Amino acid sequence: MKPAPLRFESLQASHIDAIMEIEKQVHSAPWSRQSFENEVGHKDGVFLVAFKGPAIVGYAGAWTIAEEAHVITVAVDPGQQRQGIGRRLVIELLERTKVKGAECATLEVRVSNEPAIALYESLDFISVGTRKKYYPDNREDALVMWKYSL
Ligand SMILES: CC(C)(COP(=O)(O)OP(=O)(O)OC[C@H]1O[C@@H](n2cnc3c(N)ncnc32)[C@H](O)[C@@H]1OP(=O)(O)O)[C@@H](O)C(=O)NCCC(=O)NCCS
Repeated sequence: MKPAPLRFESLQASHIDAIMEIEKQVHSAPWSRQSFENEVGHKDGVFLVAFKGPAIVGYAGAWTIAEEAHVITVAVDPGQQRQGIGRRLVIELLERTKVKGAECATLEVRVSNEPAIALYESLDFISVGTRKKYYPDNREDALVMWKYSL
């Protein structure tokens, strides 16, 4: 059977309960409800929610700052990973930041997060350095990645 197609919607307040369920499962330091609420309708933001049928299966957000897209979050429901959803979310996210004027993109990712680093490398992000002890919960370093052309 063919997998159900993905559909993307801009973040709405009604999505936040389902998003927080995913967020708590995938992150050691999950965002607060308020952090998600701040992204609803954010003037310089793009925040996409991925649906498979009626179910929310992932989300990704970015801010456009001048010509730069700053990817602020990407997550996929653990039961739905390794099906290409993360890649499609990031591709769609970057397309939409491009429409808002972004020409390049950057992000930080935990140095231990091999799945995410592999995902970003597959989309032509390159590692340009680290931010030492960037993550307050375990003082882990962040890898700084850039995609110089969208
Ligand atoms: C990172 C994450 C979003 C990837 O989502 P996903 O839907 O599973 O990713 P995809 O199926 O689109 O995979 C795309 C590519 O990423 C890489 N990748 C994804 N998961 C991987 C894993 N567990 N191990 C190694 N590489 C992996 C592969 O290169 C993969 O391509 P391939 O399947 O053709 O080999 C998901 O693992 C996640 O939600 N992790 C927790 C949250 C997180 O760490 N977010 C990033 C914070 S910066």
